[in-house]
Amino acid sequence: MRRRELLIAAAVCTISSAAFAQDTVKIGLILPMTGQQASTGKQIDAAVKLYMAQNGTSVAGKKIEVILKDDTSVPDVTKRLAQELVVNDKVAILAGFGITPSAMATAPIATQAKVPEVVMAAGTSSITEASPFIVRTSFTLAQSAVPMAEWAVKNGIKKVVTMVSDYGPGIDAEKSFSDKFKADGGTIVENLRVPLRSPDFAPVLQKAADAKADALFVFVPSGSGAQFVKQFVERGLDKSGMKLIATGDVTDDDQLNGMGDVVVGVINAHNYSANHDSALNKTYVEAFKKANNGLRPNFMSVGGYDGMALIYGALKKTNGAADGEKLVAAMKGMAWESPRGPISIDTDTRDIIQNIYIRKVDKVGGELYNVEFATIPNVKDPVKAAKK
Ligand code: PHB
Repeated sequence: MRRRELLIAAAVCTISSAAFAQDTVKIGLILPMTGQQASTGKQIDAAVKLYMAQNGTSVAGKKIEVILKDDTSVPDVTKRLAQELVVNDKVAILAGFGITPSAMATAPIATQAKVPEVVMAAGTSSITEASPFIVRTSFTLAQSAVPMAEWAVKNGIKKVVTMVSDYGPGIDAEKSFSDKFKADGGTIVENLRVPLRSPDFAPVLQKAADAKADALFVFVPSGSGAQFVKQFVERGLDKSGMKLIATGDVTDDDQLNGMGDVVVGVINAHNYSANHDSALNKTYVEAFKKANNGLRPNFMSVGGYDGMALIYGALKKTNGAADGEKLVAAMKGMAWESPRGPISIDTDTRDIIQNIYIRKVDKVGGELYNVEFATIPNVKDPVKAAKK
């Protein structure tokens, strides 16, 4: 090529790459795709792909590009990946975050880079206070634990042992359940904790059995419920007369069907059931299963699906402008219907407001489901509400 042609070719390249940068909004999606929390990564990744298949890959004149990274749920890795995505890939939005420590580790990067951090999975109340750029589409543990405590007292449960994973969301679940249960007149016999990594529930379950309470209240994160139930049965606690009550993380749709009939009758509180009775949810479950070899969507999946709805909705409001401050402002107060029911983003806290359902595990069409039988509408995070 002659020099003039070379120059023209170079100019065309520069123009098209500039146009690409301008017309593409990149989302850095950081999820645990391997390791103990892999089911969360798999569910959210599938939901993000489904949302884009249903709603298109461009919005407000911008092409949406998702860059998926596996942080193996190690917070130092999450932080390094977030940094690389912001600095090298120039993502406009960070999203995902399978566990609380990963969401927390990324908060300073979101603040410094002024990049929205859309938390699709993690559930510790204080996460949204770690950066003004954090917006949450998942849930808080207090949202489920407080209604569970209220139900327990009203239904004749007087003495409870709690058992939680020993980190942010578990401590929130323990405290919000215990405070509400005691305030309503119940007695907490013991607060027990198990490690997050490779938990062995046996010694703690022995203590719970010895305490002879009316019920055992449990939180373990999504992905650990089946292992907990297995050890609960192995210890004979299903026959001890002590009821099992929980946050819906334990009776997770991703694993529920494999837990066996021993969980039939377990009462729990949560934001989403694949059995939720709405036209939108029926379409969602069907489409999700079809795209994922029959995999049933769980509560983590709707965090991802609604996180994408939040991002698309905000970009529509800003006419495609991907400036972090404008996007967060657009996200505040957004309200729409999710497969879980009506949801909105609290303008003051950037946290999700959603219905919490009291459910009972039951057989429906030969499969185990969390069947909703009572609704507490529009629940704000009780921990932040109490600080006001
Ligand atoms: C969290 O780490 O915040 C977390 C993870 C899984 C859950 C709930 C909370 O099911």
